[in-house]
Amino acid sequence: MLILGVESSCDETAAAVLQDDTDVLSNVINSQIATHSKYGGVVPELASRKHIENIYQVVQESLDVANCILEDIDFLAVTAGPGLIGSLLVGLSFVKAISYAKEIPYITIDHLSGHLTSIFLAEKKPSFPFIALIASGGHSSLFLVENYTTYKLLGRSRDDAAGEAFDKVAKLLDLEYPGGPVINQIAQHGDPEAISFPRAWLSPDSLDFSFSGLKTATANYVHHAKSTNSTLIIEDICASFQEAVVDVLVEKTLEAARANNVQNIVMGGGVAANSRLREHMKMRGAEAGCETYITPIEYCTDNAAMIALAGYYQRGLASKSYDTDVYSRSQFLK
Ligand code: KG4
Ligand code: ZN
Repeated sequence: MLILGVESSCDETAAAVLQDDTDVLSNVINSQIATHSKYGGVVPELASRKHIENIYQVVQESLDVANCILEDIDFLAVTAGPGLIGSLLVGLSFVKAISYAKEIPYITIDHLSGHLTSIFLAEKKPSFPFIALIASGGHSSLFLVENYTTYKLLGRSRDDAAGEAFDKVAKLLDLEYPGGPVINQIAQHGDPEAISFPRAWLSPDSLDFSFSGLKTATANYVHHAKSTNSTLIIEDICASFQEAVVDVLVEKTLEAARANNVQNIVMGGGVAANSRLREHMKMRGAEAGCETYITPIEYCTDNAAMIALAGYYQRGLASKSYDTDVYSRSQFLK
């Protein structure tokens, strides 16, 4: 069975061809970083226009690399939400057009479902149930995953998502967009204990996340240092900020495992590409007697292979009905 996945929820135009749930035959990603970086964040209108410019070529390339044509595809899978409405509409309309013209059924996928199943693109696959931490630019959430399609929400970001905090702190420090990879790299040369930034644990049994206080504390630290002409050691700020995010993400994930008596821990989403988070989750997980499964870096940030895979697991819902629409809030966060 061949599935063509399409993803355009934010600033990546992506398409992938997947054979069953095992072989990624192609995984093409066209990133718009160069377009948005001078604005320090994604400009929605520009993102939609870039998706329109790029989508045909990206999909064609994914077919070429997989050595197949549209007639070989059994069904299509496309992200319908959450994300930027204009961007999502480009992907969904494109897929509907292929579906109509070639009479191939299609299925709409919730982006979070893509991140939650991306771990099955790894060699080492978890068994059910598992606790999943999904940390990205739009959401930080914890789920109890019971099977490929049943997820119970345990905790979620109350304000800024983890990736959003990385991006905003990077902007504050005049670093490039997206901030996560840049801070990750600079932090390697800094001292994570140099500055004691706050960790928002919230109430003792809460599995929710809040990173806006940490972002404000970092901004206050920078402004205070500037106003008193103190030396700003960017490496230490990055390392200490990153450590505060990592501590909270790791400890809350372990708490979710303890509270639900589950030993398997999974991590995905763009922030899961963070080297310190990967290292710390593995180490603390092992100390707590948990088995840790971390999504390969190439499938952490937005991609269409994870959308095609989520489509595979939900293939019974594929249809040729065209009344589907895009949405801005995940159905799993309601
Ligand atoms: O999953 P993703 O590609 O898109 C969303 O669904 O939001 O995640 C993008 C986010 C951005 O905020 C980016 O700064 C962050 O993931 N990110 C990282 C790293 N790589 C990407 N954050 C921390 N460390 C990284 N290495
Ligand atoms: Zn994402």
